[in-house]
Amino acid sequence: MIEIKNITKTYNTGEMDFQALKGVSFTIKEGEFVAIMGPSGSGKSTLMNIVGALDTPSSGQYLLDGKDVSSLSESELAKIRKEKIGFVFQSFNLLKRTTVIRNVALPLLYTGMPKDQRLVRAKEALASSGFEEDHYYHLSNQLSGGQMQRVAIARALVNNPSLILADEPTGNLDTKTGEKVLETFTRLNDKGHTIVLITHEYDVAMHANRIITIRDGLIEKDENIKH
Ligand SMILES: Nc1ncnc2c1ncn2[C@@H]1O[C@H](COP(=O)(O)OP(=O)(O)OP(=O)(O)O)[C@@H](O)[C@H]1O
Ligand SMILES: [Mg+2]
Repeated sequence: MIEIKNITKTYNTGEMDFQALKGVSFTIKEGEFVAIMGPSGSGKSTLMNIVGALDTPSSGQYLLDGKDVSSLSESELAKIRKEKIGFVFQSFNLLKRTTVIRNVALPLLYTGMPKDQRLVRAKEALASSGFEEDHYYHLSNQLSGGQMQRVAIARALVNNPSLILADEPTGNLDTKTGEKVLETFTRLNDKGHTIVLITHEYDVAMHANRIITIRDGLIEKDENIKH
């Protein structure tokens, strides 16, 4: 599904160029649950932005489902994102003072899908994320952190993406709440979703079936985890 071949990323900051990725290669098959781990500044988010078609590499090749996305235009990247990828971030990025269900249905707004169908899909996504049914019409800013993150996961699922990318999804949660969110990812993976989870915490990475460790823009380790 994901084929990353010798990717580099250089940021141009004024006079100095900084190479955040120095030649990274790996493949991720459909249905895998992979954690990308590494210390702060190692290039995790840079890599996620490329894998998520939010940014393009400076060199190297990225094939997503066989399609070369390394050199697409911004509008072509946006199309790929809409069709294939669901994003979950550390800060939940929900619309405040807006109900849970509307937050989740939002990505469907511009698809031309009728409203009743959008709400059905939103409810299905919320059920998949393990969100409590009696809170669907609560305002998103009146939820706990764990509930907010499950809403964000549901929003990522609502387009039925083949790939879910999560960047530090438990970073703003206490250990117990984070554990529940990670269980949600495990459950989604069991259902066949491909998951790429970015974290700098080993305990979090251990929920995946494979851990790719990056350091200073290079892959240091790529190991399978037996549960
Ligand atoms: N837009 C940018 N312009 C210039 N340098 C950048 C930019 N984004 C990231 N960098 C640099 O690239 C390196 C990798 O950054 P990245 O955000 O990928 O790290 P990370 O592994 O996600 O770290 P963290 O765990 O803190 O989120 C860092 O040294 C950072 O300063
Ligand atoms: Mg980061």
